Amino acid sequence: MSESVDMLVINAGQIVVAPAQNGGPQRGSSMGTLGVLEDGALAIHEGQIVALGEQSTIEAAFDADSVIEAGGRTVIPGFVDPHTHAVWAGDRAAEFEMRIAGATYMQIMDAGGGINSTVTQVRAATRDDIIDQTRPRLDRMLAHGSTTIEVKTGYGLDTENEIKLLDAIFELDADHPADLAPTFLGAHSVPAEFTGRTDAYVDLIDDEMIPAVAEFVRAHNRSMPFIDVFCEEGVFDVPQSRRILEAGAQAGMPLKIHADEFVGLGGTGLAVELGAASADHLVSTPDADITALGGGNTVAVGLPGTPFGLAHHDYTPARRMLEAGAALAIATDCNPGTAWLESMQFVMALAARYMKLTPAEALTAATINAAFAIGRGNTVGSLEVGKQADLLILDVSDYRHLAYRFGGNLVRTVIKSGKVVV
Ligand code: NIG
Ligand code: FE
Repeated sequence: MSESVDMLVINAGQIVVAPAQNGGPQRGSSMGTLGVLEDGALAIHEGQIVALGEQSTIEAAFDADSVIEAGGRTVIPGFVDPHTHAVWAGDRAAEFEMRIAGATYMQIMDAGGGINSTVTQVRAATRDDIIDQTRPRLDRMLAHGSTTIEVKTGYGLDTENEIKLLDAIFELDADHPADLAPTFLGAHSVPAEFTGRTDAYVDLIDDEMIPAVAEFVRAHNRSMPFIDVFCEEGVFDVPQSRRILEAGAQAGMPLKIHADEFVGLGGTGLAVELGAASADHLVSTPDADITALGGGNTVAVGLPGTPFGLAHHDYTPARRMLEAGAALAIATDCNPGTAWLESMQFVMALAARYMKLTPAEALTAATINAAFAIGRGNTVGSLEVGKQADLLILDVSDYRHLAYRFGGNLVRTVIKSGKVVV
């Protein structure tokens, strides 16, 4: 007698498991452990993976009304994109032209452009307008295989508009097939009205914005979002970042940081010290902070689309981080300024070339380790029994084509919580 389940995926040439390691992310030299099953099948019931293994074993043990024929193709976990600024209004195409002509990102920012020009566009837009502009981005991310997506606020920069963005994220999470993991990034930039008064803006974040966000979240019966800070020369320094993260932690928010994107100030060390879930960018990270990552529980998140988007030559020194024993993830950083990038497949291609990750390491970084970077490693990111059935059928017979090819979309089918969504 075979057991009846909701769905079977059969005849997969490869099933990439990408398992957690000792209940956590894969670290150091053992990163890239994929646990590839050849000629396998997978059983799904009530949105979860109930079994996977050899084709003949699974077919003998289960039957289902819905049987998906993978036809020798590769099945991998849905991508987790653990760092995006996907909710915004408008665009910055004109700034892109300025950068091509030689202006730097920080010069444009100091001249009132950059993040603050998107802030102006967001403040002028209604919540529904922002939702309508964001939804097609999420659709394209999902079509490229991202089934769980972290999304930051950070283009409101006052209490009302930060909450407007958080509200948009909650709404999109409820009606879009992808799962969204929200992050409060009131400390993304110093808004124009606080120019030269960064400490006063930090006071506003700590005394008004964090309590208001926490109240809004409780009123919506949601768990606390992450809190994040752009720790960078000319934005928030390490003591200011510490004040913000500590106030967030006090309100029950897990921590993240933007550190070392341009100048290595010590933000990564701060993140490890405070037990942050992740430290992100990490291009100019000081040696001592790389060592700290190796000994801590903070996932290092590389965002190779950002230097690529800025036409810079320095990328996250992933090999040194792995030598130190760190756990590494990768993400798009999808935003209107530095990287309007919606495809984790393209991020893998960049990570292989510029961060020198093997295809297996890049895939681990884009799945299980990315899930741990947003505190969801126990439910998504790998194809293990008991996990949410978030998986992709790729139009290739070998997972290595993911990092090898670029610029296209190798995803044929997206299954989210046991349902075909693309
Ligand atoms: O991660 N570094 C800060 N934030 C974004 C850029 C956001 C923007 O330019 O709008 C980043 O690169
Ligand atoms: Fe970012």
